[in-house]
Amino acid sequence: MKILLFGKNGQVGWELQRSLAPLGEVVALDFDSDGLCGDFTRPDELAETVRRVAPRVIVNAAAHTAVDKAESEPDLARRINARSPAALAGAAEELGAWLVHYSTDYVFDGSGDKPRAETDPTGPLSVYGRTKLEGEQAVARCAKHLVFRTSWVYAARGANFAKAVLRLAAERDTLRVVSDQIGAPTGADLLADVTAHAIRAVQDKPELAGLYHLAAAGETSWHAYARFVVERARRAGRPLRLAADRIEAIPTSAYPTPARRPLNSRLDTGKLRQAFGLCLPDWRAGARRTLDELLEQ
Ligand SMILES: NC(=O)c1ccc[n+]([C@@H]2O[C@H](COP(=O)([O-])OP(=O)(O)OC[C@H]3O[C@@H](n4cnc5c(N)ncnc54)[C@H](OP(=O)(O)O)[C@@H]3O)[C@@H](O)[C@H]2O)c1
Repeated sequence: MKILLFGKNGQVGWELQRSLAPLGEVVALDFDSDGLCGDFTRPDELAETVRRVAPRVIVNAAAHTAVDKAESEPDLARRINARSPAALAGAAEELGAWLVHYSTDYVFDGSGDKPRAETDPTGPLSVYGRTKLEGEQAVARCAKHLVFRTSWVYAARGANFAKAVLRLAAERDTLRVVSDQIGAPTGADLLADVTAHAIRAVQDKPELAGLYHLAAAGETSWHAYARFVVERARRAGRPLRLAADRIEAIPTSAYPTPARRPLNSRLDTGKLRQAFGLCLPDWRAGARRTLDELLEQ
């Protein structure tokens, strides 16, 4: 099976290079590689790349993920998160290829306290959320599509919240972190592994095409997650100025950012677990493993 992977150097893209390898030949692209265009500001050339490579499966891990920055560059965010995925969907449909894409809990407005199902109404609060919603809708126009909405992604490689906490904990003796946004930190490795399982499964069962919520089990707040990171790092002997009990819990209203973020980021993953017969581990299991990897570096 020939697989064309876009965004190979992002958190998820990096893990996909590993998890997709046993499925067949993987052509993995960053912005531009080997004369092929992987640049999501150039939708027409991306479609041409798909025609040239002629893969059976396209996996798109590229995105404009700078949530606050997107507020001041909506056209760029739309081009990367919506127009280019739309171009991929058109090219995939022509070819009869599968298109796998990732979206986010930020397509929801974050009201209430119940985990959101795939059928729940969307209501993005930010440019990032709106452009990601447009992107997933465009991808769904390709019959053979898989869209995975996920939340709070981390990995040992790339930029993420846990790494920012470790850096700040070495520099400061107090930290304020929001405690009223609730979700599940989800490892890029888990996303990549589930993606590989799903790609295999849909080859025999194309009726499994569709939109799925994919996140680790359990829930936490950014504040509790920060405490978890610092406690684990201290236990591992990392010299930190910050003690876990000096992390102050604050409401989102006390930490204004250019982009509004949903308070309720809980995703109901029942559809995915049932369709693919998979188990999603508690967020702490993956977070612990990645932290240990980071702390050993
Ligand atoms: N990170 C999260 O917390 C989170 C949460 C929910 C959903 N998601 C979704 O999960 C997917 C994977 O996210 P991630 O965490 O792996 O993000 P990431 O680490 O930011 O990776 C995104 C990749 O896209 C690349 N990229 C940016 N602009 C590009 C362009 N014009 N052309 C080609 N590549 C471009 C980035 O390159 P540079 O680094 O060089 O810019 C980066 O390698 C995305 O669809 C994202 O929306 C992420």
